[in-house]
Amino acid sequence: MSNPKSLTTLSFLLSSLLGCAEGAAIDKRIAVPAGYVAAPYYPAPHGGWTSDWSESYRKASLLVQNMTLAEKTNLTSGTGIFMGRCVGNTGSALRAGIPQLCLQDGPLGVRNTDHNTAFPAGITVGATWDKDLMYARGVALGEEFRGKGVNVHLGPSVGPLGRKPRGGRNWEGFGADPVLQAFGGGLSIEGIQSVGVIATIKHLIANEQEMYRMYNLVQPGISSNLDDRTLHELYLWPFAEGVRSGVGAVMIAYNAVNGSACSQNSYLINNILKDELGFQGFVMSDWLAQISGVSSALAGLDMNMPGDIHTIPLATGQSYWMYEYSRAILNGSVPVDRLDDSVTRILAAYFQLGQDQNYPSPNFDTNTQDAEGPLYPGALFSPSGVVNEFVNVQANHAEVAREVARDAITLLKNNGSLPLSTSATFKVFGTDAEKNPDGINACADQGCNKGTLGMGWGSGSARYPYMDSPIDGLKSRGANYQFFNTDSFPSNSNPSANDVALVFVTADSGENYITVENNPGDRTSANLKLWHNGDQLIKDVAAKYSNVIVIVHTVGPILMEEWVDLPSVKAVLFAHLPGQEAGDSLMQVLFGDVSPSGHLPYTIPNSEDDYPDSVSLVGFQFGQPQDTFTEGLYIDYRHFNKAGIKPRYAFGHGLSYTTFSFSNASITPVTPLTAVPPTRPTKGETPAYSTSIPPASESYWPDNFDRIWRYLYSWLDKSDADNAAAAANSSTKYPYPAGYSNEQKPGPPAGGAQGGNPALFDVAYDVEVAISNTGSRAGKAVAQLYVQYPEGIAFDTPVVQLRDFTKTSELRAGESQTVQMRVTRKDLSVWDVVSQNWVVPNVGGDYGIWIGDSSDTLALRCGTAAGRCAGGQTSPV
Ligand SMILES: *[C@@H]1O[C@H](CO)[C@@H](O)[C@H](O)[C@H]1NC(C)=O
Ligand SMILES: *[C@@H]1O[C@H](CO)[C@@H](O)[C@H](O)[C@H]1NC(C)=O
Ligand SMILES: *[C@@H]1O[C@H](CO)[C@@H](O)[C@H](O)[C@H]1NC(C)=O
Ligand SMILES: *[C@@H]1O[C@H](CO)[C@@H](O)[C@H](O)[C@H]1NC(C)=O
Ligand SMILES: *[C@@H]1O[C@H](CO)[C@@H](O)[C@H](O)[C@H]1NC(C)=O
Ligand SMILES: *[C@@H]1O[C@H](CO)[C@@H](O)[C@H](O)[C@H]1NC(C)=O
Ligand SMILES: *[C@@H]1O[C@H](CO)[C@@H](O)[C@H](O)[C@H]1NC(C)=O
Repeated sequence: MSNPKSLTTLSFLLSSLLGCAEGAAIDKRIAVPAGYVAAPYYPAPHGGWTSDWSESYRKASLLVQNMTLAEKTNLTSGTGIFMGRCVGNTGSALRAGIPQLCLQDGPLGVRNTDHNTAFPAGITVGATWDKDLMYARGVALGEEFRGKGVNVHLGPSVGPLGRKPRGGRNWEGFGADPVLQAFGGGLSIEGIQSVGVIATIKHLIANEQEMYRMYNLVQPGISSNLDDRTLHELYLWPFAEGVRSGVGAVMIAYNAVNGSACSQNSYLINNILKDELGFQGFVMSDWLAQISGVSSALAGLDMNMPGDIHTIPLATGQSYWMYEYSRAILNGSVPVDRLDDSVTRILAAYFQLGQDQNYPSPNFDTNTQDAEGPLYPGALFSPSGVVNEFVNVQANHAEVAREVARDAITLLKNNGSLPLSTSATFKVFGTDAEKNPDGINACADQGCNKGTLGMGWGSGSARYPYMDSPIDGLKSRGANYQFFNTDSFPSNSNPSANDVALVFVTADSGENYITVENNPGDRTSANLKLWHNGDQLIKDVAAKYSNVIVIVHTVGPILMEEWVDLPSVKAVLFAHLPGQEAGDSLMQVLFGDVSPSGHLPYTIPNSEDDYPDSVSLVGFQFGQPQDTFTEGLYIDYRHFNKAGIKPRYAFGHGLSYTTFSFSNASITPVTPLTAVPPTRPTKGETPAYSTSIPPASESYWPDNFDRIWRYLYSWLDKSDADNAAAAANSSTKYPYPAGYSNEQKPGPPAGGAQGGNPALFDVAYDVEVAISNTGSRAGKAVAQLYVQYPEGIAFDTPVVQLRDFTKTSELRAGESQTVQMRVTRKDLSVWDVVSQNWVVPNVGGDYGIWIGDSSDTLALRCGTAAGRCAGGQTSPV
């Protein structure tokens, strides 16, 4: 395979192999630190018990009743890696009218295709703090996936949450706070699904670093060991909101939690996701994350992607499911209702999103850019045909992409230099200012840091249809500039007193299967420093020029201490990861068409030592790498506040060209609180499934079937099927895990609807605040709402935690706007590990509802006890 795409995918496969041999599957759990327990929770809850999905379940279960065993197992698995046009392709059940479903990356655009939009990355969306843009970008993304014939969009990503500043894939999500992630993820889902595409919230859960994430034959994947309260209050929070938004699919993570691989962690999938959060859609594995057949089915996995066995995908086409799943049903190991529930969940999502009506088929091929090619590139001999139809799905999506890129730009420092005048003379430094000279898509999956950095690397990337670079932006403004396309300070730049120097610098990261400049996804060797000696470049420019503007394209926090306080560094802008729209979006801010309105979606430290040790990357360990979340709730600003460390720039910080004042705040009680939520609604009816094992003949190969080599099928040879059926009557039973039962449970008290007990989302207080533009230029303000728990409660809680936010429309100088925010019951609760419920620690207590435009400039406080708000307060941090 000669195209670069296949080569990187090959390296993805190789990274999962590590000198494997068949038959050495990891079946014994390795001990984790004392106290962390992966408890059993069986059986997998049947879906269909919430009223918002009942019609889709009715349609789905009617179909499932009519399907054969081989049709059912066909839908729960991919047909093999490189065995179709999409990155994941399920089998079909054509007799029942169900086509193969196409699953495709990624969170910022349709991966590996053409005529698409390369949208700004999640972290950029988070930096806008703009709920309307979060939704609008979701709609545009959904339209592109639908236009390409994708049934299941593999996004948004809300995990990693951003616990580790060096973590490779933080940029795919929305920022290092559960509430920012929750709005980013939930509104993306609502946008994507509004056009009929099934969204996939991922990766469940605690997948906070790239290295050692996957199980292979020599080593199990890393174990994230975390306590129940931290799980609920941080990492699970955005998943709960995604489920509440009605997400159709959840992707489980590669890593283990408490020593049990997420793909077969029954407590996680059956209890937390399907029972407590009331998830009604289907659960898929991450690519090659499944490590067992029967166990993963019992633990609640519904779909295996891309179908193959994790350690031997390059071999002859083997799967833990497909034909093995048919066998496991016939021999009685997996109860029939477990398979029926999985298939019903998949089809219910299909009906819920209306995909039975005029849904397009795939018209692109993730494996090649050519018009024609092999239909099954993974087969040695494959029929060929038209695979790419070059359908243009861009519509006017560049506009929302540009708006997101622009409104994310975060002004961190400005000593009067910005906005710029077009008549200035510019000296531009840094290779990031212009497109990669090798071509904008020269590196497969953007696996290099060359030219303008619009996104990180890996499966979360997309091909650029074009790159509007900063240099393009200067050109189209007719600016008088000279560009030095180098990351070393040139000797021939001839500084003159009136020059404005623009310095472009980057920090990159990505997914583990590609190593870029010695960084295997995570920023191991770059650490939090700028790449390509960016610190030196800035210092050198600052030594010769007196008016220096630094523009940073970055995946996350960087260290700025070497240069940020230099007197000639007059302004610093974070443009995050703008996707294809890097140029004009930046020019609009630099030249003052708009005021910058982005705010940091994470904290910027003074030093990496300011973080807790436990959020460092975990390096090599014999056996299973253990990553224990001893810092608990105290990540990012929660940690800095607790430790009393003033960061360089706080979470939520962002300047404007104008100034705003917050006034006239009011707080109104809505739903009265009680210490525990009202009793949950009981589960509604779920489909009645037969428990009798279907006849073996339902899985026999059809006569004269023309097999494709390596393709995964759900049929068995007649003798295998008959032997399996006979085994069902033998005395040898499957060794079920401890705690196994096939008796459906009523569900935990904290559940009751999608997202949890619906009372958790009751609005406890409405909050209003007037925001006035007190400066002389137009601009948008961001209001951030943080909750401070009353003193003296029995739970240790971070001093302030973000609970809501909103962005104003563009306010002219002197103009005001009154904005609304809300505080829910859940926002005021803590997860009580003993009662396994959300409790309000002090119902009559005085909660501080703090409002400001950064986590460290909170001067307006509304108290729940007095029901009044006052400005001019001393910020709690
Ligand atoms: C992990 O272990 C902790 C401590 O025993 C427990 O509270 C938590 O529920 C466990 N989490 C999972 C997902 O099993
Ligand atoms: C199921 O099969 C029966 C008998 O063939 C048929 O009447 C019915 O329409 C089918 N139902 C669905 C939902 O396909
Ligand atoms: C499974 O799906 C494949 C691919 O669409 C198809 O060729 C095959 O006929 C399906 N098997 C069954 C039992 O429908
Ligand atoms: C049934 O088949 C499955 C899949 O091959 C296998 O894992 C399991 O051990 C079998 N069970 C019995 C009781 O033979
Ligand atoms: C420079 O700007 C920063 C923030 O924009 C401000 O805190 C600082 O006081 C300014 N310094 C000078 C010398 O104006
Ligand atoms: C604040 O309230 C006062 C008194 O009702 C009113 O006069 C003023 O216009 C309000 N300010 C804003 C910015 O809404
Ligand atoms: C297994 O036992 C059941 C009930 O005794 C019987 O109906 C069925 O035919 C048997 N299956 C096989 C394959 O022997």
